[in-house]
Amino acid sequence: MPYGSPRDIQQVIVTAEAIQSRVRELGEVISADYAGRNPLLVGVLKGVIFFMTDLLRAVSIPVEVDFMAVSGYTPETRQHGTVRLVKDLELPIEGRHVLFVEDMIDTGLTLNYLLGNLRMRAPASLEVCALFNKPAHRLIDLPVRYLGFDLRENFVVGYGLDFKERYRNLPFIGTLSPDAMKK
Ligand code: IMP
Ligand code: MG
Repeated sequence: MPYGSPRDIQQVIVTAEAIQSRVRELGEVISADYAGRNPLLVGVLKGVIFFMTDLLRAVSIPVEVDFMAVSGYTPETRQHGTVRLVKDLELPIEGRHVLFVEDMIDTGLTLNYLLGNLRMRAPASLEVCALFNKPAHRLIDLPVRYLGFDLRENFVVGYGLDFKERYRNLPFIGTLSPDAMKK
């Protein structure tokens, strides 16, 4: 097993095959929509790397990629709706067609803050592509142009999403057993 005990996973919520096929569909739609616009895909480390690399390979037009990193958020920063940028983009985005790629939108606070930050740099356009979304948890309404899956679960791991930095490498997403949450 490349990860902890398989018993750590209570239930598989989206299989690896379903994720891969949805990511391919998103890549095709994005390729059609952004043809001739040389989009820049921007992601936030680390959770998004799995989705980003699969999505990039599903895009058939010229495309560029860049990453930001934010400090892992605490209950306090969550309350204020701000996050600290610990790594900024390497490429300028003024006049560029930017597609913000996100693994998971939960409350929407992180994304809202980062979109505001990017908007100030005057991109030609700024849209969001999120693989997973928890609509019931949303605190801020955000325009999500491309969406993979809506989830009802409170907390899931896998395909980049972690619990205490573990389980990112699962090819599917699933809920954790109560025992695994105590570890
Ligand atoms: P938001 O600011 O509440 O939307 O938080 C979004 C971020 O929290 C995501 O980009 C993930 O990194 C993390 N997150 C939210 N829900 C989950 C989950 O169910 N499992 C693992 N990480 C999550
Ligand atoms: Mg994230």
